[in-house]
Amino acid sequence: MIQYDRVALDDATINHLIDDAHQRYRAARPESEDWHIKALTVLPGGNTRSVLHFDPFPFRVASASEQMLVDVDGHTYIDFCGNYTAALLGHSPDRIKEAITSVLESGWALGATHPREVELAELICDRFPSIDQVRFTNSGTEANLMAIGTALRHVGPDRQTVGVFDRAYHGGVLAFGDIDGPHNPLNVPHRFRVAPFGQAADRAAVDGLDQLFQPDLGCVLVEPVQGSGGCRPPGPGFLAELRRRCDETGTVLIFDEVMTSRLGPGGAQQRFDVVPDMTTLGKYLAGGMTFGAFGGRRDIMAAFEPGQPGALTQAGTFNNNIVSMTAAITTLRHELDADSLGRVNDLGDQLRQDLQAVFEATGAPLWVTGVGSMLCVHAEDDRLLDLLFHAMLDEGLYLARRGFMALSKAVTADDCHRLTQAAAAWIEQLFGDGGHDDV
Ligand SMILES: Cc1ncc(COP(=O)(O)O)c(C=O)c1O
Repeated sequence: MIQYDRVALDDATINHLIDDAHQRYRAARPESEDWHIKALTVLPGGNTRSVLHFDPFPFRVASASEQMLVDVDGHTYIDFCGNYTAALLGHSPDRIKEAITSVLESGWALGATHPREVELAELICDRFPSIDQVRFTNSGTEANLMAIGTALRHVGPDRQTVGVFDRAYHGGVLAFGDIDGPHNPLNVPHRFRVAPFGQAADRAAVDGLDQLFQPDLGCVLVEPVQGSGGCRPPGPGFLAELRRRCDETGTVLIFDEVMTSRLGPGGAQQRFDVVPDMTTLGKYLAGGMTFGAFGGRRDIMAAFEPGQPGALTQAGTFNNNIVSMTAAITTLRHELDADSLGRVNDLGDQLRQDLQAVFEATGAPLWVTGVGSMLCVHAEDDRLLDLLFHAMLDEGLYLARRGFMALSKAVTADDCHRLTQAAAAWIEQLFGDGGHDDV
C-alpha cells in the first residue's frame, strides 16, 4: 500500500494526492501510455467506449482469464469491474470457447434461419416470467430501442410518451441524468418524461409518478435496480406501484434487465416478484459475446408476425448470429443455474456489507449501495473515488473508475477479502485516528 504523507484533507491536498497517484500510475505503464498516444490520433480521446476512459490514460489489456486481467506493461489485476456486468462467467470461460469453436465447423453468417435461435428462445422464455416470445438484437441499446418502439405501437398514436427515471442508463442514446440536469444530445428523439427513481412510499416519488402517468404515457422503461445510475435499489413497493399504475392505465411496463437479470435465475422480476409486460436483456447472456434481446407478452410481440397488415419488421443482419446464439445457449444451459447465481450474488452482498462496515468504522465520507453482485462505492467528493480507484490499482485490484463493481463467478471470497483489506488500509491512511499534519 502506498504511504501517503499525513496531511490535512483540504482541496489543495486532495489535488496533490491525485497528481501523485497519476504520476505513479503513468511511470509504471509506459507501454499503455505509448498505445494511448497512438490512439489519440485515430480515436477521439483515445477510446471507442467512453466508460473505459480514466485519467491519466487507461491501461491496455494484453490478456484476460477467469477473474484476472493482465495489461501490456505486465501488471495483473483482480477484475471487480467484470466488464460492467457482461463478464459474469469470468474471462475466457472454457465452455464458451469450446462451444463457439466447435460450432464454427458448420459455418457462420448464414443469412438463413437455423435451429440454435429456436433453442435459445426456448431457454429464455422458460427462464424469465414475463417473456412469452423473444427477438434477438446485437446490444442492450438496440433491445431497448426495439422494446420502446414495439410498446408505443401497441398502445397507439395518442400515447407516444415514454416514461423513464432520473439517472437511468439504457444505452448511449437512452441516457438520463438528474431531473433538472442537462439533456443528453445523443438521445433518440422520443418524447421522454423523466420521473424520480425511488420509493413508492416517498412523497417525492409519489408526486413524480403522478406527473409521469398522464394520458399520453404509452410505456415505462425502468431498470429494477439502477446499475449505471449508481446501483440504486428500488424502494419497497416501488416496482409494484409501477405495475399497479400501468395496469390501471393500460401502459406497457418494460423492465430493462440488461444488467439486473443476473440477480436471480428469473432475473430481478423474479427476485422482486413483479412481472413486467416486456423485458430487455443483454450483457453477460452470451458469455461475453455481443448480445441483446427483447421479449414479452405474446399479444405485444405478435406485432412482428409477418403477413398481417402493418406488421412490424426487425431485420438486423446479425440478430441470429451463430456465435452469440451458441454462446448464450451454453451460458444458460451450463453456466448459470440457481446455485451459481446464488453464490455470486451472496458474495456481492457480503462484499457490500464488509466495505460499508469499513467506511462506517472510520466515518469516511464514502458509502456502498447495490443488490447482490452489482455494487457501487459513492463519495461526497468525486476526487476521493479517483484516489480510491488508483490506490486499488496500486494493489492490483480493478474497479470501474466511478466505483462500480460487478462480480463474476470467478471472483473468490479471498479476492473480496483482499479488496476490503486494501480499502481499509487506504481509508486508514487518509482518515485514520492519527489525524493529518499539514503538508
Ligand atoms: C441497464 C442497461 N441497459 C442497456 C445497456 C446498453 O447495452 P449495450 O451496451 O449492450 O448497448 C446498458 C449498458 O451498460 C445497461 O447497463
